[in-house]
Amino acid sequence: MSNTEILKKISNKTVKTGVIGLGYVGLPLAVTFANNGVEILGFEKNKDKAKAVNEAQNYIGDVTDADLTNVVKETKKLSATADFTRIKECDAVIICVPTPLDKFKKPDMSYIESSCIDIAKNMKPGTFISLESTTYPTTTEDFMKPIIEKESGLKEGKDFWLCFSPERVDPGNINYKTDNTPKIVGALGTEAAEIAEALYGLAIKHLHMVSSPRIAEMTKILENTYRLVNISLINELALLSGKMNIDIWEVIEAAKTKPYGFQAFYPGPGIGGHCIPLDPFYLEHIAKNFNFELSMIHTAGAINDRMSHRMMNKISFALNRHKKSMGGSTILFMGIAYKPDIADARESPALLIMDQLKKKGANILYHDPYIPEFTDDHGNKYICSELTDKLLSDADCVVFTTNHSCFKVEQIIEKAKLVVDLRNAVKSVKIEDGKVFKL
Ligand SMILES: NC(=O)c1ccc[n+]([C@@H]2O[C@H](COP(=O)([O-])OP(=O)(O)OC[C@H]3O[C@@H](n4cnc5c(N)ncnc54)[C@H](O)[C@@H]3O)[C@@H](O)[C@H]2O)c1
Repeated sequence: MSNTEILKKISNKTVKTGVIGLGYVGLPLAVTFANNGVEILGFEKNKDKAKAVNEAQNYIGDVTDADLTNVVKETKKLSATADFTRIKECDAVIICVPTPLDKFKKPDMSYIESSCIDIAKNMKPGTFISLESTTYPTTTEDFMKPIIEKESGLKEGKDFWLCFSPERVDPGNINYKTDNTPKIVGALGTEAAEIAEALYGLAIKHLHMVSSPRIAEMTKILENTYRLVNISLINELALLSGKMNIDIWEVIEAAKTKPYGFQAFYPGPGIGGHCIPLDPFYLEHIAKNFNFELSMIHTAGAINDRMSHRMMNKISFALNRHKKSMGGSTILFMGIAYKPDIADARESPALLIMDQLKKKGANILYHDPYIPEFTDDHGNKYICSELTDKLLSDADCVVFTTNHSCFKVEQIIEKAKLVVDLRNAVKSVKIEDGKVFKL
């Protein structure tokens, strides 16, 4: 089978495209394609999410309610299902499922594997398949291809085509969205590359074609590893600077005046989110197959792992200065999302610090306007406290863990007895002696 038929469908925009996994990555991608006139069928294991999409109920911050309503109710270009037999309706399928680490910090490939099986068992010959989930280099060729060929009895490059195109979404970024973030595309073979370029070109403004899936896979891991290593470096320097009575924030501002060769990274209580703390360990895993030790990633990960413990010590030190012990103190966390102005607390360092303090007997409260409640890994349920003057003044310590732009820092400091600022939230506020402790 040649790729002529699917290319024709792409050129007249009748290419029906499945998106598997409608989360932070999949839903914005599905809406972007649908907005550009492509009929999208979303496949989602979580039936509540599929139902929400079909009712145009938005659950992802980077998708606007208006866009979702438009593509679901008006143009009817987007619908969702949990029925994977409907993959046979699709000409192209894009996979956006999670790629977490297991408890031994090894890649959990089960989501990609089950998607491949669902596709293989249901697809028609001539289907184009693209993986967007972050993973280790060689996944598309050495992990996905054999599963799909075995389960479908079809042949890659002849009966179906494969590609890897990493998602680069930056949740909460108001300038760069799915359609205007340049997209890396690496396909297996020239026919697949032709399809990939044409299909993604329908919705994405700038494509950067690379020669193979493994180049694209490595590119994505390089981007995230670069951030892990540099944030871990600045966190370590921040801890040293704290001991030496040097304001690391002033140092960074000074270094930034260099017009070349320096890019600023900012310290904080640790690295969170679904990507940076996890993805580099996918590379570490595959490197072991080549008997290669990635010591830089390992060290950066170890620095990050220790951050929550160091932050706990910092809070304990501040309480001590106020002649209070950790046990029995009430500690209010301002912000539990892993970064400002988003509603995502996955892998958030705030949760790790809260957990450690709880184990030491502290009474933990939090306020985060984006996250009304959450349940931690031990099943403890937390509900967002309403931010009142009394809440602030009753707390023995208020900790800034996320610098949401809506926080009225000056007022919070005025009412609080003691503040530990792990995000440079208080930068423009005059600090009373002994009241604010910084990272
Ligand atoms: N969130 C980000 O900022 C970001 C950025 C770039 C890349 N990524 C990568 O994109 C991938 C997806 O991340 P995400 O943040 O969208 O995850 P997510 O958890 O928000 O969404 C994944 C969705 O897939 C669904 N799902 C799981 N298994 C499924 C299956 N077999 N079939 C159908 N649906 C299934 C889940 O119910 C969920 O709705 C990951 O590999 C991640 O590393 C994420």
